[in-house]
Amino acid sequence: MHQNSSRRKFIKSAALASMAFSILPGQVFSGSATKARLGFIGVGLRGQGTLKLALERNDVDVVAICDVQQRMIDMSKYLIKKSGKLIPQVIMDGAYGYRKMLENKDLDAVIISTPWEWHTVMCLDAMNARKYVGCEVITGQTVEECWELVHTSERTGMPLMMLENVCYRRDVMAVLNMVRQNVFGEIVHVQGGYQHDLRAVKFNNGQDAYGGGVEFGEKGFSEAQWRTQHSVMRNGDLYPTHGIGPVAMMIDINRGNRITELVSYASKARGLRDYVIKQGGAAHPNAKVEFKLGDIVTTMLKCNNGETILLQHDTNLPRPYSLGFRVQGTNGLWMDVNNSIYVEGKSKTPHGWDDAQAWLDKYDHPLWKKYTHEAAGAGHGGMDWFVLHAFVESVKRKTNTPQDVYDAVTWSAITPLSETSIRLGGETVDFPDFTQGKWMNRKNEFARGDDF
Ligand SMILES: NC(=O)c1ccc[n+]([C@@H]2O[C@H](COP(=O)([O-])OP(=O)(O)OC[C@H]3O[C@@H](n4cnc5c(N)ncnc54)[C@H](O)[C@@H]3O)[C@@H](O)[C@H]2O)c1
Repeated sequence: MHQNSSRRKFIKSAALASMAFSILPGQVFSGSATKARLGFIGVGLRGQGTLKLALERNDVDVVAICDVQQRMIDMSKYLIKKSGKLIPQVIMDGAYGYRKMLENKDLDAVIISTPWEWHTVMCLDAMNARKYVGCEVITGQTVEECWELVHTSERTGMPLMMLENVCYRRDVMAVLNMVRQNVFGEIVHVQGGYQHDLRAVKFNNGQDAYGGGVEFGEKGFSEAQWRTQHSVMRNGDLYPTHGIGPVAMMIDINRGNRITELVSYASKARGLRDYVIKQGGAAHPNAKVEFKLGDIVTTMLKCNNGETILLQHDTNLPRPYSLGFRVQGTNGLWMDVNNSIYVEGKSKTPHGWDDAQAWLDKYDHPLWKKYTHEAAGAGHGGMDWFVLHAFVESVKRKTNTPQDVYDAVTWSAITPLSETSIRLGGETVDFPDFTQGKWMNRKNEFARGDDF
């Protein structure tokens, strides 16, 4: 009760303090308090995952789906039929067909799960049509696009939530809880990243569930159709949000703290070509492709309150999956790669790691305790349920979203800024203050509510 009312107070005071959201009564919202009416733009593999979760909720009506590929529409219709719900409006009308969906007055919000290069224009159109926006990672390809998203959200009063699910990972939330209870002391340094062997995703011809072949672009399937091209054209941290989101929340970025500087380095690019040659032979045409993306991109960020952040992007070499988190303070640290924690004076042996699990169980986040059953079976160990839940509850309650437009663009802007820093030979670049000074007064209310 107390937390709910403090969340409401926060939203009110944050909005007043910032003048960021100037929603006039009756101007924007048509949603009812009990249901969120959602439209899905892009129902590829990720969109279908979110659609499936939405169909399982009795407080969501799926009003419309839209895609440009018949195969993805058919797969989505199958999911809808299987759920026992009625087939909603289906839009397949070219690249801008989604704009028809936005004309629908019965729609409260859209979930955007399209390729990255479509996110900004779709978010802008949706906010201008006065819809809540839940957009997949990443949101904004250039710093200019990031600013446009901020200004449009502020002008229209429409919240934009980037659906950064890793902020809701169970161990991440337990560590957030530990940070808030001062277990690690004052936080000095954090790390994260995207360390995921995507070679079979980047070269996927859609013939089997695990990818296959060495094709991409028009001959590819799902992310191989579009994501691989980014590795041909760009050199930077192309996917920073899973790493930065969770640790940014732990050190109050945009809420009493902010990122001030960035520097990035990229290693040589070998992994993708090596994969093509191993899988398809040296004579395959894709063996001649020059990939610009360095195999390991390392980015350092400096924060106003003195912390450093290290991010790594590592998707082109053989390796087991790990987001590489490390959260370190004056009393000790957590590292997820070896699932270990050390707290001075409390760990079993001096200078020795504890298996983290007992600590994580002890500090399990209240939201995870409350919703273990609901999240069970949802994608990525349950965190996908949480991120959709937070969005749906915000839509129903007509509040700002717990991860907001400032988070979306701060986390996304790391990509273009790292590209700039690498291009300039490792020069330090200034990090924009997308909150325009509001970070000084905003409070960190992320995951402090009773419900989300
Ligand atoms: N948060 C996570 O854990 C997670 C996991 C996977 C993917 N993602 C993100 O989700 C997004 C989608 O990835 P995906 O794996 O589903 O890719 P995908 O290629 O399977 O799906 C993209 C879909 O968008 C459709 N599309 C393209 N242009 C369109 C347009 N103009 N209008 C309507 N539909 C259009 C495509 O036809 C395709 O069906 C990306 O941003 C990706 O980074 C996030």
